[in-house]
Amino acid sequence: MSSSMRARPIKILPSILSADFSRLGEDVRAVMQAGGDCVHVDIMDGHFVPNITFGPDVMKSIRHVTDKPFDVHLMISPVDLYLKNFADAGADVLTIHAEAGPHVHRSLQTIRALGKKAGIAINPGTPESLIEPVLDDVDLILAMTVNPGFGGQKFIAPVLEKVRRLRAMVADRDIDIEVDGGVTPETAGECVRAGINWLVAGSAVFKGGAPAYAANIAAIRQAAEAARGTSI
Ligand code: DX5
Ligand code: ZN
Repeated sequence: MSSSMRARPIKILPSILSADFSRLGEDVRAVMQAGGDCVHVDIMDGHFVPNITFGPDVMKSIRHVTDKPFDVHLMISPVDLYLKNFADAGADVLTIHAEAGPHVHRSLQTIRALGKKAGIAINPGTPESLIEPVLDDVDLILAMTVNPGFGGQKFIAPVLEKVRRLRAMVADRDIDIEVDGGVTPETAGECVRAGINWLVAGSAVFKGGAPAYAANIAAIRQAAEAARGTSI
């Protein structure tokens, strides 16, 4: 592992799936003021995953509450029809699932043509080899450590073996690796040691309400930074 890979900045991304939807804008503003690096937005369609969240209009309505980037996790199939809508609604990163359609390469090219960063997500049961052909077409790889659809699920630790292989496969490409699902101060360190540098956390950030957000984010960041430099 080269020193340049080791130096990729750690980011903590609050997943607003765990926010209070009755006052979404205020809650997103509060969590970003409390130290979140990017807003992680979970878009679910009730088809690719067994849950439904919201669409681009709702996302657009909260885009103004922070200047920080919006990292949009699209758990929808088909996805191509909606990429422009989410780009126009203020996404900075658009992540599609490798399992969600037959034309992943086309979708990634569309995202880059829209001027956005392109991410590819894989579920816990999906091998890393599925995305090897598109490594030069992505800026971000999202390794799910739960089966997508809900917050508050248990971290699936064996995924980290796959993350180690992914990190080696990525080599010196300019790609961040993100983990999503069950990230807490207890699991963040092992994620970083496996090669992750973006950590999404929903329930671990939002637990305890707004007064606790800053301490919750700091605890995850501290665990992640402490694991930096230890062997992978
Ligand atoms: C799950 C979503 C996650 C979710 C994570 O499908 O992609 O972003 O909000 O929630 P926690 O951190 O509670 O596991
Ligand atoms: Zn997510």
